[in-house]
Amino acid sequence: MSIQQKQTILVTGGCGYIGSHMCVELLSAGYDVVVLDNLSNSSAASIEAVQRITQKPLTFVQGDIRDANCLQAIFTNHDIQAVLHFAGLKAVGESTELPVKYYDNNMNGTLRLVEAMTTASCKTLVFSSSATVYGLPDKMPITEDADTGATNPYGRTKLMVEEVLKDLYTADPTWRISLLRYFNPVGAHATGEIGEDPNDIPNNLMPFIAQVAVGRRDKLSVYGDDYPTPDGTGVRDYIHVVDLVRGHMKALEFLQDEPKLAIHNLGTGNGYSVLEAVQAFERACGITIPYQITGRRPGDVAVSYADPTKAKEELGWEAQYNLDRMCEDAWRWQSQYPNGFNT
Ligand code: NAD
Ligand code: UD1
Repeated sequence: MSIQQKQTILVTGGCGYIGSHMCVELLSAGYDVVVLDNLSNSSAASIEAVQRITQKPLTFVQGDIRDANCLQAIFTNHDIQAVLHFAGLKAVGESTELPVKYYDNNMNGTLRLVEAMTTASCKTLVFSSSATVYGLPDKMPITEDADTGATNPYGRTKLMVEEVLKDLYTADPTWRISLLRYFNPVGAHATGEIGEDPNDIPNNLMPFIAQVAVGRRDKLSVYGDDYPTPDGTGVRDYIHVVDLVRGHMKALEFLQDEPKLAIHNLGTGNGYSVLEAVQAFERACGITIPYQITGRRPGDVAVSYADPTKAKEELGWEAQYNLDRMCEDAWRWQSQYPNGFNT
């Protein structure tokens, strides 16, 4: 076992969609894992499934990243070498209605976390940022040096946390910080034992399609077919969640060399339209997905896809799974657990 495989990693938000897949990857690679999650948008059943998949134990602390005492206890009781920081609220629509809730959770949560890390002299942090920080991008594919500018409170929390972490690194260049800008994470673990489990009506395309396929929703609303794209529907860079979390493993390795602050896109570099995504899902599940074209969703951009070159060159990472595989894995999870972790 190499030195890095013996490390203990704190995964904030580890019960959530991406965090739970991250835990599988970390445990499988031999890391010890401590999860901190307040279960505001998840269930502890996900980490039970993680332990079933990996046949390895992890430590779960139910608590809030804004709770300084809770953080202090974790850093006192465990020799944490790095933090993968997924905990956050992510619903764009809700963030416009409840902006203070979002700023409190995402901003204050991150501030408390880096304070606790500073006290514990743990200065390696990977942050879940988003392609949303590119706002209304003016050229495709999107490179990391593109202009930033968020269009909603959720996006602004991501951009502001990025700025806080840049300032932190400038003030103390012994930090090792990775800002990972995700494009559109979809899919599920190949076992179908963990996957995306939205609490309410899904905001995002793939979980909505999956719930139509499994009979929980009547039909999909396609938000606009008059975009300047080949079929008129919005184009996105869907990335398999397992590829995404493997990008985090590479980011952790990249931070081992020397202190730095690095920014990387995690996307495939391929854009697919809403209708192409529907067709891929139909191929995966063998069920026709009824849909109707409705008006555009406010705040949506026509096209968004990554230039993943920097992650390939610097992290040695590139996505492996195509859209069909993303849909097959999402369908395995959805069909095995039609009501998610409540099934
Ligand atoms: P998720 O909601 O499934 O997971 C987030 C987890 O954080 C949940 O388990 C929730 O209970 C927990 N959490 C929230 N606030 C907390 C707090 N104050 N203290 C402790 N735990 C808290 O979301 P996800 O899709 O897994 O996203 C993970 C991260 O990636 C988020 O920061 C999100 O903004 C970011 N991100 C997600 C996407 C996406 O499409 N899923 C895209 C870009 C960025
Ligand atoms: C959305 C958020 C983004 C966030 C990301 C991940 C908005 C404006 N953007 O991105 O900030 O980082 O989720 O959580 O909410 N679509 C439909 N019908 C649906 C749902 C979506 O047609 O029921 C279309 C959308 O118009 C878009 C595509 O499908 O063209 C993908 O949508 P979605 O999965 O919500 O992702 P983004 O809009 O890219």
